[in-house]
Amino acid sequence: MTQDELKQAVGRAALKYVVEGEIVGVGTGSTANCFIDALAGMKDRIKGAVASSEATRKRLEGHGIPVFDLNDVSDIPVYVDGADEITVEMHMIKGGGGAQTREKIVAAVARQFVCIADGSKLVPVLGKFPLPVEVIPMARAQVARELARLGGSPVLREGFVTDNGNLILDVHGLEIVDPVGLETRIDQIVGVVTNGLFARRPADVCLLGTATGVQTLGRE
Ligand code: A5P
Repeated sequence: MTQDELKQAVGRAALKYVVEGEIVGVGTGSTANCFIDALAGMKDRIKGAVASSEATRKRLEGHGIPVFDLNDVSDIPVYVDGADEITVEMHMIKGGGGAQTREKIVAAVARQFVCIADGSKLVPVLGKFPLPVEVIPMARAQVARELARLGGSPVLREGFVTDNGNLILDVHGLEIVDPVGLETRIDQIVGVVTNGLFARRPADVCLLGTATGVQTLGRE
């Protein structure tokens, strides 16, 4: 199977976690797009969706799926999203698409987080994928100095502005042995909006696409 076919397989597999008659939280990225395309097949059986980015909102609306403002929603039974890296502990690096702030907000509301990923995303230690950190533009240089003090090499994502009007620093060279601690530490830097570590609120389930089929990690 190609990587795209693996993404489509996990996108379809996530449908069984969608609660009929309710609102589903939807992530961002190429794997989340596969989920959105599969979700279109059951759009008449859900109330609608909350989107984690403008790109996701457009794709959902393109399929005729109603998109709700998160402020008008108090209960999201399940949030489905991809990851750039994930461990067996369900800790993740996200934000390759720069959407981690809205992703983290929607995930915080959701009761269950279902991560969908092709097998290449499963790693023993997070950090080979540069950690995306969303920063307020005027704080960019100061936050970069603080991130360097933590042992990383921050690189400004050139020509990129987030849906929230901010910048992304991609932090290279980290070997993240304490994801909860580092997520907390980076969030304490003044000027940081959100970092791409999802460890304090990890995924509950990971559907991993492999050559032998979709494997399920975590608690269902
Ligand atoms: C978007 O900002 C990210 O968090 C994505 O969820 C993550 O980068 C996975 O994207 P792909 O499914 O395209 O690999």
